[in-house]
Amino acid sequence: MSHKKLSSQEKQRGINRIFGVIIRRCHLFLKVFFANLRFTSALERVWRARFDRIKRDFLKSDPLFLPSRYWCIISFFYRMVLRGLGFAGFKTTFGRFLAAYEPGNPRLFEALHHLYAAALERRDTWGLLRSIEEPLLGKGDFVVNRGRRLSIDLLQSIDEFYRLQEALNFKKDDPIVFCELGAGYGRLAEIVMTAMPNATYLIFDLPETLLLSQYYLSTLHPERKTAFYPESLEYTRSREKLASCRLVFGLPQQLRELPENYVNVFINVYSFMEMSARQVNGYFSIIEQLQVDALYIKEHKHEINLFDQVVHTDENYPIRPSWRRIYHGTSALFEHVFEAVYRIDKIQ
Ligand SMILES: C[S@@+](CC[C@H](N)C(=O)[O-])C[C@H]1O[C@@H](n2cnc3c(N)ncnc32)[C@H](O)[C@@H]1O
Repeated sequence: MSHKKLSSQEKQRGINRIFGVIIRRCHLFLKVFFANLRFTSALERVWRARFDRIKRDFLKSDPLFLPSRYWCIISFFYRMVLRGLGFAGFKTTFGRFLAAYEPGNPRLFEALHHLYAAALERRDTWGLLRSIEEPLLGKGDFVVNRGRRLSIDLLQSIDEFYRLQEALNFKKDDPIVFCELGAGYGRLAEIVMTAMPNATYLIFDLPETLLLSQYYLSTLHPERKTAFYPESLEYTRSREKLASCRLVFGLPQQLRELPENYVNVFINVYSFMEMSARQVNGYFSIIEQLQVDALYIKEHKHEINLFDQVVHTDENYPIRPSWRRIYHGTSALFEHVFEAVYRIDKIQ
């Protein structure tokens, strides 16, 4: 077996890795150093004797079996661990150089993306994971997986999109009108708009976040016909004007002006759960008046909102008796989050 020499780039990456380990584990190194200030070994006599014998016999073996330089360093550290701490808590001393990453290790962050993406791949019937990646705009945290930038926001949005698509069975070219209340910076809108060329997306939000989603989505896609606030005031009242835009941004009160039977899918993610009971009731009445076809909510299963003196659970949203629940389940990512999709039949 032949190996080529390390390139300067590989050397630099190797050095960075060593510094990363030193920084991340300096707490452990210090702990082991101070533990070694004791006069005697922390190992019991019987284990000390075994260790002495193991070392003696090992050093007589063929050099082939001796540790690599890499492992000489780790073995030196292990000897310090054995002397200073013995076997106490070995999964967080020895273990750190075996297979047990510490919480907060960047590898675990990568692993989260890898696992989430792998789980979504099974549902990725439209190939979104292969065609969409996290935009650099906004400088969020991401990992590169198979050459594409993945973020938790991106994966959650793709997950939410497929939850809707699987439940409602719409097709790529369908001219669906989505309406999201509390869209944050517009992560889900970005996925929907990219995946569905004929979809329209209406966002209603509080001023600060509305400004942000307007900036984000319009900067990413200046070519999309967009109605910003306050120009949208003229659009939200008119079916024809709404139909001329792909993206519409409005304040929550504009929801009341939307034409009935215009919105197909009403969306709320991590937002009702942060409102007062009065607000949630008010918004559900508006959803009812709008005569939407479907409602998608994704919230914490049990959210205590101390400021507004309310506890929201997955069972106490004011769902109307006539709304048919066609999906309800725990989110793929978070055990404490539920998702539900309701079909809302038209009032005759
Ligand atoms: C936790 S963020 C979730 C954002 C987005 N759905 C996401 O998952 O990334 C809550 C969102 O709800 C919005 N929001 C909070 N209270 C609201 C209210 N009373 N009316 C409308 N939007 C509200 C916030 O501005 C924000 O966009």
